[in-house]
Amino acid sequence: MAYPDDASFGDLTSALSAISESLDQFNRFEGPDDAGRNRESWRKVLDVPLPDAGLGLDAVLEELRSVVIPNGLRNGHPGFNGWVTTAPTTSGTAAALASTVAGSQRFWVQAFNYLETVSLKWLNELLGFPDSWQGTYCSGGSSANLITLGAARQWAVEQMGVDPSMTGMPEGVRWRIYASSEVHHVINRAAAILGIGRRSVTPIPVTDAFTIDVGALKEQLKSDASRGIRPMAIVATAGTVNTGAIDPINELADVAEEVGAWLHVDGAYGMFGILDDRVADLYTGVLRADSVALDPHKWLAAPVGNGVAIVRDRGIMGRAFTLEPASYLEGSASQDGRIESPFDDFGEMYHEFNLDQSAPSRGVQVWAILKEIGKEGMTARVVRHNSYARHLEKLADDHERLEVVSKAVISICCFRYNNGQLENARLNELNAEIAAHLRADGSFVPSTTVVGDVFAIRPCYINPRTRLEDVEGLANRVVELGDKITASSPH
Ligand SMILES: Cc1ncc(COP(=O)(O)O)c(C=O)c1O
Repeated sequence: MAYPDDASFGDLTSALSAISESLDQFNRFEGPDDAGRNRESWRKVLDVPLPDAGLGLDAVLEELRSVVIPNGLRNGHPGFNGWVTTAPTTSGTAAALASTVAGSQRFWVQAFNYLETVSLKWLNELLGFPDSWQGTYCSGGSSANLITLGAARQWAVEQMGVDPSMTGMPEGVRWRIYASSEVHHVINRAAAILGIGRRSVTPIPVTDAFTIDVGALKEQLKSDASRGIRPMAIVATAGTVNTGAIDPINELADVAEEVGAWLHVDGAYGMFGILDDRVADLYTGVLRADSVALDPHKWLAAPVGNGVAIVRDRGIMGRAFTLEPASYLEGSASQDGRIESPFDDFGEMYHEFNLDQSAPSRGVQVWAILKEIGKEGMTARVVRHNSYARHLEKLADDHERLEVVSKAVISICCFRYNNGQLENARLNELNAEIAAHLRADGSFVPSTTVVGDVFAIRPCYINPRTRLEDVEGLANRVVELGDKITASSPH
């Protein structure tokens, strides 16, 4: 079919085959990763003026193939275990492509809309959540926490007989959100956006295990209550970004119940850890949560841009995020309930519980991933990754020039090079130098963090491609680099 436009339409088979070898080549992660080192040369090729006359599809594909893809981000490399990110597996990638083409909006009566619902039910089943819990897909952990805390705000202010989505926050009332000092900084930003204020997120000290100190929380609540400050929500983190610590959710549920606060669980990284029987007990109490944030684009290795906000009662989320009726929408669907076109109904109304009106279909990615590997495959992944962190902890414990900085709870183990001869400040510099060398080598790329006053090397195992040899390789390389640097500059 011919269309009156300069863009190409039906050439996907040849377009995909023009770049697919380059993508497969990229995914083999062979040779050095020169994207950072060579940035001047590929930027020069890409930094050209806007063309007046289009250069055509072939020119686009050729530049994708030869310049863009080879200089992409290798966070799927088996030795990459930094931050909490990885690259997608094939089924999620194929599903994302399919939805880009055939499900380019998540609503209306169509298969991709339905898979939002099916996959949310599967996530509930996978994680042992009640079937009645309702979720909505969003763009990641930041938005999942923002949406769930938006629901918390709606609920808390409604307790005063005020609808904050209609009239804003009541004047003269001071609110607090309570979370451990290890909480992810997107929680503070969510509080800022919701008009509660970053400073209202009250950091509660942590125990030696980096979990929230419940005694200190109770003290803070008591003192705040005496000053008329209202508790809006308590945030439990199930898998902190620094060390993978899991807050005592059940105890926090007791406290939330006592003080009448919403209990939110930020499980963006660590919620899937519940699949490992060795640590499942640490999640006790999660079924008492009012909301949970999940990130399929982390441990589930979905394409980035995939988060889930789950609440016990989506009515609250609806009151917080609903769209006003609009004449361009109302009446545009079937008036008598008959479905004779996909456009006769909006399907499951996910856009009513969310920030985006137009949004991609994301559920299909989770559906594809879980359909491919099943609960067993996902459980095996989580158990393997948690075992990697434990193995690394043992390697570091056993080695005389390595030191465990934080023990493995789920799939993070923080450690450092320490030859026992240097002061902490120098050790911090040395380990930062080791980390810089690791990033430049590209074979083993953890990220780093600071635990107390210790600069630590911090691998976080969520990458499905990582093998045991990558875990052992990292430990060996840290020793090699530490030895080499200290030999050349002992002090
Ligand atoms: C515990 C936790 N919460 C929230 C986030 C933010 O998620 P995202 O980067 O998807 O916005 C992260 C990211 O690492 C996280 O680890």
